Amino acid sequence: MADLNKHSNIPSKGLAVLGSTGSIGRNTLEVVRFNPGRFKVVSLAAGNNVEGLKKQIQEFRPACVSVANDAAARELKKTAAMPVEICSGAEGAMKAASYEGVDMAVSAISGAAGLIPTLAAIRAGKDIALANKETLVMAGPIILKEIKKSGVRLLPVDSEHSAIFQSLCGHRREDLKGIILTASGGPFLTASASVLDAVTPEAATMHPKWSMGRKISVDSATLMNKGLEVIEAAFLFDLLPEKISVVIHPQAIVHSMVEYIDGSIVAQMSQPDMRGAIAYAISYPERIECGTPPLKLHGLNLEFFEPDVKRFPCLTLAYDAIRAGGTMPAVLNAADEIAVDGFLKGNLGFTCIYGVISGVMEKHSARSLTSIETVLEADRWARQEAAALIRTLG
Ligand SMILES: NC(=O)c1ccc[n+]([C@@H]2O[C@H](COP(=O)([O-])OP(=O)(O)OC[C@H]3O[C@@H](n4cnc5c(N)ncnc54)[C@H](OP(=O)(O)O)[C@@H]3O)[C@@H](O)[C@H]2O)c1
Repeated sequence: MADLNKHSNIPSKGLAVLGSTGSIGRNTLEVVRFNPGRFKVVSLAAGNNVEGLKKQIQEFRPACVSVANDAAARELKKTAAMPVEICSGAEGAMKAASYEGVDMAVSAISGAAGLIPTLAAIRAGKDIALANKETLVMAGPIILKEIKKSGVRLLPVDSEHSAIFQSLCGHRREDLKGIILTASGGPFLTASASVLDAVTPEAATMHPKWSMGRKISVDSATLMNKGLEVIEAAFLFDLLPEKISVVIHPQAIVHSMVEYIDGSIVAQMSQPDMRGAIAYAISYPERIECGTPPLKLHGLNLEFFEPDVKRFPCLTLAYDAIRAGGTMPAVLNAADEIAVDGFLKGNLGFTCIYGVISGVMEKHSARSLTSIETVLEADRWARQEAAALIRTLG
């Protein structure tokens, strides 16, 4: 039998891995490792983890790497004794994203910092494997217009959106009734309001099912991550918010579902392991092996129940933001980033995250998204407002 991991007849796909030192970035490189010859890592972009990046340079030999700032670039230049172009800052990440030889950019920088490099990749005609949900949350209509203009593919990496994408394949759009995003519920699923008040950053970043970066882990604990995913899904699948529902599914086996008008629900299931969704995005329309352990169906106990928006009100803010439209989702996203950062630094209580985001949203009148500058302006304004609100609370 032929060795399925040898792809001598398939030209390798050039990848830019943006956010290579993070959870999604490292998992992407594991999928690459698992499929020798199938992918070529052309460029990497990271933040400040110079040591981690150095090891990746040694192993994958990219042509170009980028780090968050000049200091990190100087440190890398001192020690990276190999022929690689080293750049830095947002310009550097844009260069890595659009580098010659890149066929697809894996967009996995965390937060709003991922938006501009992803846009650069789209404008340079690169396909996108999108983990950075903030790109669509902040600038959905603009990004979709740019995607259309460039004629590139946008493949979801978020496991829920990957599941929806897979469950839509082979079905007619007019038969769709709605989509159902699953949420594991995070570490405080059954916690009382008083327990939530006393949650520490350490506890909030210990997700029971997924191993992720700190920001998204806190968002999972507040259910804001699900809210951001509702907005992402609305843009990605062109759906009204009424067509998108959320169910709590603590086992995190069903990654999301599509409901059709005949009462059928099509779901995608697998172990909670991001390598599956990453592999599907970077190899679509093929499926490749990626190291995800098989799902054993015997003895599976799958539960589904309604989210408790009284204890986890951040989810409702996301529906408010998508209904308001324009700059409001970008404002929600920026206020959340500042509030989560404040919480992780010990300047804000866990349950005050909601108050900061809703306070900033209340002060904002949504404007239509005329350009990327409109988005960045709203983002800057919301960050200042959120920081000011945290100071008054502290
Ligand atoms: N983790 C998951 O399972 C998962 C699932 C679905 C979607 N996502 C989304 O994927 C994105 C990444 O999540 P993650 O969990 O992988 O986060 P993470 O572990 O915190 O990693 C973030 C990555 O972004 C880099 N970075 C941060 N700021 C940067 C900047 N200004 N310039 C360049 N690079 C920068 C970090 O670099 P350094 O570490 O070198 O500083 C790191 O490589 C997020 O948008 C998240 O919502 C994640």
